[in-house]
Amino acid sequence: MKIKKRVLQGMRPTGRLHLGNYLGTAKGMVALQEDPDYETYYMVADLHGMTTPFDPKKIYQDALSVVTDYLACGLDPEKSAIFLQSQLADLHTQLAFYFSSVITVARMQHLPTFKEKVKQHPDNITMALLNYPVLMAADILIYKASMVPVGLDQEPHMEVTREIARKMNAEYETDFPEPQSFKTKTRYIPSLLGEGKMSKSVEGSYINLTDDLETIRKKLAQTPTDSGKGETVPTSGGVANLLTFVELFQGQEKRADYEKKYTGSGIRYSELKTGLAEAIYKDLEPIREKRKELEAKPEYVTQVIKAGAVRARILAQKTIDEVKEKMGLKGGL
Ligand code: TRP
Repeated sequence: MKIKKRVLQGMRPTGRLHLGNYLGTAKGMVALQEDPDYETYYMVADLHGMTTPFDPKKIYQDALSVVTDYLACGLDPEKSAIFLQSQLADLHTQLAFYFSSVITVARMQHLPTFKEKVKQHPDNITMALLNYPVLMAADILIYKASMVPVGLDQEPHMEVTREIARKMNAEYETDFPEPQSFKTKTRYIPSLLGEGKMSKSVEGSYINLTDDLETIRKKLAQTPTDSGKGETVPTSGGVANLLTFVELFQGQEKRADYEKKYTGSGIRYSELKTGLAEAIYKDLEPIREKRKELEAKPEYVTQVIKAGAVRARILAQKTIDEVKEKMGLKGGL
C-alpha cells in the first residue's frame, strides 16, 4: 500500500470566513482531502488566538464558526480529521514545552512575525506570543506531518519548525520529519478596495460567504473605478480587481468583453457591478444553504470536532510518549 503524505493545516480562529478564504484556502483544503495521496488533519488554532488580546466570551464560538464555514465549503469529516487545537491543549502545549528547551529566546525575538506583532500590540508582549512559533511547531510535528499548506507569511515559522525537528532528532534521536510548506493551486484574491488582498482585518475589503445580495452590492459599490475608458486596461487597482472577480465568477469571456469595452465604447461600472454581485451571490448559494443546514444542527458540528479530536489524539499521544521517553522522562508512573 502506498504511504499517504500527512497534511496538517492550522486555521486562524477568525469567525466567519470571507470569499478570499474560500477561494484561497478552503477550495485547496477540499482538493487535498479528495486526493488519495494525502491524509488530512485540519485544526482551528484557537490557542494561537490567545497570543494576542482576545475575548473569552467569543473565542469558542468563533472557532466553531470557522469549523461550520469550512464544513459548508466542503470539508468532509469522513475524510479529514477536523478539530480544535484546544481540545488537545494538554498534548500540544506539552510538546511545545519540550521543544522550547531546544530553541533560544533570541531566535524567537528576531522573527519578523514577532516583531510585527510587537508593533501592533506593544503593551501585550506575552510569553504566549513569544512562544507562538514553538506551539506551531508542536501542532505540526505532533502529527509528524510532512506537508503544511500555508501562506508565504508563515515561512519563518516553518523554518523554526524544521530547525526544531533537526535539533530534536540530533539531540534525542527522535524521527521528526522536516515539514515542507505547500502551495495549493489557488489564486490570490484581491481586496474590494483596490489595494492589497482581501482581508478580514481591512473593513470593506471582503465579502462574507453569508452576505446577502444587497450587502454584496453595497460592498462592490465601494470599489474605486475610473471613467471606464482608456488606451490600456489597468493591471492594478480597483478596475483590475473588478476584472479579476468578473473572470472568477463570470468567466474568461465576460472579462474579455469588458476589456474590449474599456478600450472602445467604455464600461458602465454600475452595470458591471450589478451583474458581478449577482454572479457572486449565486456562486455562494450552495455554501449558504449548507451553512443554514449546519446552523440548524449545532450538535452535529460539535460531534464532528469530537470525532476529529479522538482521531488526532491517537497520533498525538503516541508522539508525546515517544518524546518523553527519548528525553529521559519516565512514563506510566
Ligand atoms: N500561524 C498560522 C497562521 O497564522 C496558523 C497556524 C497555527 C498553523 N498552527 C498551525 C498553520 C499549524 C499551519 C500549521 O496562519
